[in-house]
Amino acid sequence: MSLGWRAAAGTPLRGEISVPGDKSISHRAIMLAAIAEGRSRISGFLEGEDTRATARIFAQLGVRIEAPEASERIVHGVGLHGLRGCSESLDCGNAGTGMRLLTGLLAGQGFASVLVGDASLSKRPMSRVIEPLRQMGAQLTSTDGGLPPIRIDINKDLQGIDCKTKVASAQVKSAILLAGLYAHGETRVIEPHPTRDYTERMLRAFGWPIEFAPGQVRLSGGHRLRATDVSVPADFSSAAFFLVAASVIPGSDLLLRRVGMNPRRTGLLAALRLMGADITEENPDEQGGEAVANLRVRHAQLRGIAVPEALVPDMIDEFPALFVAAAVAEGRTTISGAAELRVKESDRIAVMAIALRAMGAAITETPDGAVIDGGSLCGADTDSHGDHRIAMSLAVAAQCASGETCIGDCENVATSFPGFVELARSIGFELLAG
Ligand code: S3P
Repeated sequence: MSLGWRAAAGTPLRGEISVPGDKSISHRAIMLAAIAEGRSRISGFLEGEDTRATARIFAQLGVRIEAPEASERIVHGVGLHGLRGCSESLDCGNAGTGMRLLTGLLAGQGFASVLVGDASLSKRPMSRVIEPLRQMGAQLTSTDGGLPPIRIDINKDLQGIDCKTKVASAQVKSAILLAGLYAHGETRVIEPHPTRDYTERMLRAFGWPIEFAPGQVRLSGGHRLRATDVSVPADFSSAAFFLVAASVIPGSDLLLRRVGMNPRRTGLLAALRLMGADITEENPDEQGGEAVANLRVRHAQLRGIAVPEALVPDMIDEFPALFVAAAVAEGRTTISGAAELRVKESDRIAVMAIALRAMGAAITETPDGAVIDGGSLCGADTDSHGDHRIAMSLAVAAQCASGETCIGDCENVATSFPGFVELARSIGFELLAG
């Protein structure tokens, strides 16, 4: 039986907390450390199912990875050409980032691989990475509809490409760049809108020559990666649930410590501020080459807005949380230009609309967004459809609803935010697992 949660209105949120390490950075740190020369230490590694699946895959490919303590990994890199093929399939679990980036990284190896995923990942589109990688010469096969499993055949002869990506996707860009490490000549990616640049920054930190600016990047094959230590900041996307919760629960005053503030991730902060949120950045600092800050959030009356489309890629993972903020704000919020939400771990527009409607919200779906008229919420029976971010967003919604809310199918919260229930309870959430 799948794990469910019961939640109800809690107390004002108060205290100081740290959320776990960044998922995007943790995946990339394992990948680059594995194909670097020498020993890299990763601290602040996310102990989530997604990132652990990526680490397990590199162990299958012959990389020794030690875990001296929780959130620490020591990776004994085998060099660019040191991975060993594995006859068993490589299980990415629930992780789109794992599967798409690995497709690029494994496309130029001297061995074949098969990448598989769980039921949700098996429904997610892979043509977006398969097509450009095939242009580079990669031998890739998926199901007819472009879905996993992905079979990657041997090709030690990839060619660099000049690629204008169709969707603004850091996963697609990163897959092409990782294949580009193994390709002859130059690989260039131009994006329709700048996306998170962790792959670019980390390649540079591991010593690979690379040029990049927002929305464009180029590198050439044939260099080497040198081991380096990576310090992973706290994940803005995990902080997001508490930014919304403390904004909407009267009397709240919460501090989130040392949250990653890469501008390609903080679109929700801008959107919440447009809605009238009271969030301040304190002690700005740098950690592992990334901006971090303490975020102090106090309750404020939020107002509906038209979410600027330019912010969408910078807050693509935060829409389930934003839907909750909109559902209890004063007035109307409109979201557009966000059709990508339909191909995340679930169709996040449809699943949030069904759940919030059950909780009494006035929400209308559009093909690429939603129109939400703020009001009050009541408890209901809801289902997260196995989507971690939906489960946590509904737990936030339940904190400002009358009565009890049941949230079904929550075990995948462990993919990105192990310990969410305990941490949320420690600052005032009324939330029980089981
Ligand atoms: C990610 C990129 C985004 C994001 C995902 C993580 C990454 O996906 O939604 O959670 O680490 O590169 P897309 O590239 O599909 O936008």
